[in-house]
Amino acid sequence: MCGIIGFTGKLEAKNILLEGLASLEYRGYDSAGISLFDNGKIRTIKTAGKVTNLVDKAESSGDITSTCGIGHTRWATHGGVTDTNAHPHAHGKVTLIHNGIIENYHELEVELATAGRYPISQTDTEMVAMLIDSLYTGNAIDAIREAIKRIEGAYAFCILFADEPEVIYCIRNASPLVACHANDGSIIASDMVALIPYSKDYFVLPEHHIARLTKDDIVVMNLEKEVVVPKMIHVNWDVTAAQKGGYPHFMLKEIFEQPESIRSTILPRIIKGDLPDFTVDRIPNEIFEKVNRVIITACGTAMHAGLVGKAMLEKLLRIPVEVDIASEFRYQDPIIDKNTLVITISQSGETADTLASLRLAKELGATTLSVVNVKGSTIDRESDYVLYTQAGPEIAVASTKAYTAQLSCLYLIAFKFALIRGTITEAQCGAYMKELKAVIPAIEKTLTLDKTVEEISRGLADTEDLFFIGRGLDYALSCEGSIKLKEISYIHSEAYAAGELKHGTLSLVTEGVPVIALATQAKVYSKMISNIREVRARGAIVILITNGDAEVEATLYDYHIALPAMNDFFTPFSSAIVLQLLAYYTCVHRGFDVDQPRNLAKAVTVE
Ligand code: M6R
Repeated sequence: MCGIIGFTGKLEAKNILLEGLASLEYRGYDSAGISLFDNGKIRTIKTAGKVTNLVDKAESSGDITSTCGIGHTRWATHGGVTDTNAHPHAHGKVTLIHNGIIENYHELEVELATAGRYPISQTDTEMVAMLIDSLYTGNAIDAIREAIKRIEGAYAFCILFADEPEVIYCIRNASPLVACHANDGSIIASDMVALIPYSKDYFVLPEHHIARLTKDDIVVMNLEKEVVVPKMIHVNWDVTAAQKGGYPHFMLKEIFEQPESIRSTILPRIIKGDLPDFTVDRIPNEIFEKVNRVIITACGTAMHAGLVGKAMLEKLLRIPVEVDIASEFRYQDPIIDKNTLVITISQSGETADTLASLRLAKELGATTLSVVNVKGSTIDRESDYVLYTQAGPEIAVASTKAYTAQLSCLYLIAFKFALIRGTITEAQCGAYMKELKAVIPAIEKTLTLDKTVEEISRGLADTEDLFFIGRGLDYALSCEGSIKLKEISYIHSEAYAAGELKHGTLSLVTEGVPVIALATQAKVYSKMISNIREVRARGAIVILITNGDAEVEATLYDYHIALPAMNDFFTPFSSAIVLQLLAYYTCVHRGFDVDQPRNLAKAVTVE
């Protein structure tokens, strides 16, 4: 949460910061601000609202000549959405921006008050500006080192000291910071998307290390002041991947990118005989040999991918698989030993609860395997093994292509795992893999339903409540459809296991309530039809999704979406596309902000 950027170099800094903030805005969009060295003095411009408000304010703030500055886009935690609470925050000689939460800010506030220092904002961040300034006696690094000893919580800071024009200091704990030095200067940000116009190579600032950025280079040192050389990472996507490319919204672009992201995730991991292979991922077969239990832990959409993964793994392996919401898992007393494989799933690789779950699993002796999209993220670096989803940057807050890329990885894991354990033969595995590859054209075909789904969603625009129902894999997809719709269209919806509806919730299904019924699984198809009859009898408007053009009594539905016919195991991919499009168009018809829904942010780096 919160986007951070800092630049010092040979170019005009203001535009670099404003453009960088626009690309980081998905991380938080409550307020935005910049501070720049202008003729040796620090000038700050900040405002509540989106980056466009800041751009307007910066334009009307007169000429600024600067080649060094910092910028921030905020997701509010402490203190309301006001100009005063917007970052940067300044005290004395210190001006800083922050991503994270300072847990002991109140103690710091009391302590600083006794020294006659008082904040003007309601933020936790301002305490740190005051603290560093109180410790500063001319040496920036010493002041930061001392301050860090007193701060508890998650943080990434970019700091300007009035005495050192053209220099930016940074430090982080838990919250991400990536940096690179390019021809025109040094740049640091919360996410690679802000660096990509300047370089495809970057490094992750190690935790509890200080970076000193000047126009000539970036020096990284540990808290003992020893210089360290961080490992460089290369990305294989370019600036166009983080742009809308002619689509009205990132979400729609990302929905349409799914054939490509699934292709890039699956195809490089297939060897002769259509068998899955993790050699490039350096995942040895041995990790699957001793496992007698699997736990999948993640949040939100990534957790919903885990529900599909559980079904696949249990079916093929016949060993117990548990899926846990990471924020619950981390405070439970999980049953884990050295024969447990814990799979964490995360697009950002920075989700605080998922990261804490990973750390707990390692502490308890499990082998950890993570499915991650962002290379160099904390979950990537701390996991024993990682399988990357090759989805490229996902900018819309609502996760789409990352979800289906996560499914792709989980299917690959299930097939590989089952092959190694001998619960499927090579021939069976090859057949499954062929079906997995066939998902790519199936998704392409599903995307041609775009206009049909748009039309159906028009009818949902005035809805206040609706239900998603399904059984088995379709229930897992119902959960995903429901979160997507809620997240961006603000329609209340619930996902229900279709057989459970009559145990209480059916009382909410009345005349005109929409029910999206997924009936793609042959094994429970007739049961689903009975459940659809139940809601239909109460007057529900039924939007039915089937695998292929199943013959269904026309009186049972108002709308029927037929997915391309495929093996039932693989329908989650196509169902996901339909549900994503449904959420997307419903949001568009209701006139809300698709890519930046209220109160949310892309990477949830706080608990
Ligand atoms: O970055 P992660 O995959 O760890 O994020 C997990 C969730 O916050 C995320 O999937 C969230 O639920 C999405 N915004 C839903 O579309």
